[in-house]
Amino acid sequence: MRILVLQGPNLNLLGTRQPGIYGHETLEEIHAGIERHAREVGLEVDFYQSNHEGDLIDRLQRRDFDAAIVNAAGYTHTSVALRDALLAIDRPFVEVHLSDPWAREEFRRVNFIHDIAAASFAGQGSRGYHLALDELARRGDA
Ligand code: DQA
Repeated sequence: MRILVLQGPNLNLLGTRQPGIYGHETLEEIHAGIERHAREVGLEVDFYQSNHEGDLIDRLQRRDFDAAIVNAAGYTHTSVALRDALLAIDRPFVEVHLSDPWAREEFRRVNFIHDIAAASFAGQGSRGYHLALDELARRGDA
């Protein structure tokens, strides 16, 4: 069972990007933790990060995975095209945010993917990715 972990714009800067909001872990460290946890729960993971909307959509359209974990970052709040891609690929996905967008600026309450996600975890830092893996393992359709 293969899980695609899709990481949106600016998440490549984790570690130094607004650490008061996003923490001190780098994306590589977060991915290493996800990899370890995935092994424990018996899931295979692939990772993809891009700062470009179309690249994220192209990666989803490859459909070489059974389910996805998606931190769409800023595109969460702007991208009809990413929403359309997530609907088109016909795979369950779990939404993750390191911070809690609902507790931040008003514009972050606009969310184009929340209502189509199988589950959402926000405001729990990198633990949210582990909870997303647990959720997909529990659902058993991943
Ligand atoms: C984020 C929250 C988004 O609002 C923001 O644009 C990000 C990161 C998070 O993980 O907390 O880039 O998705």
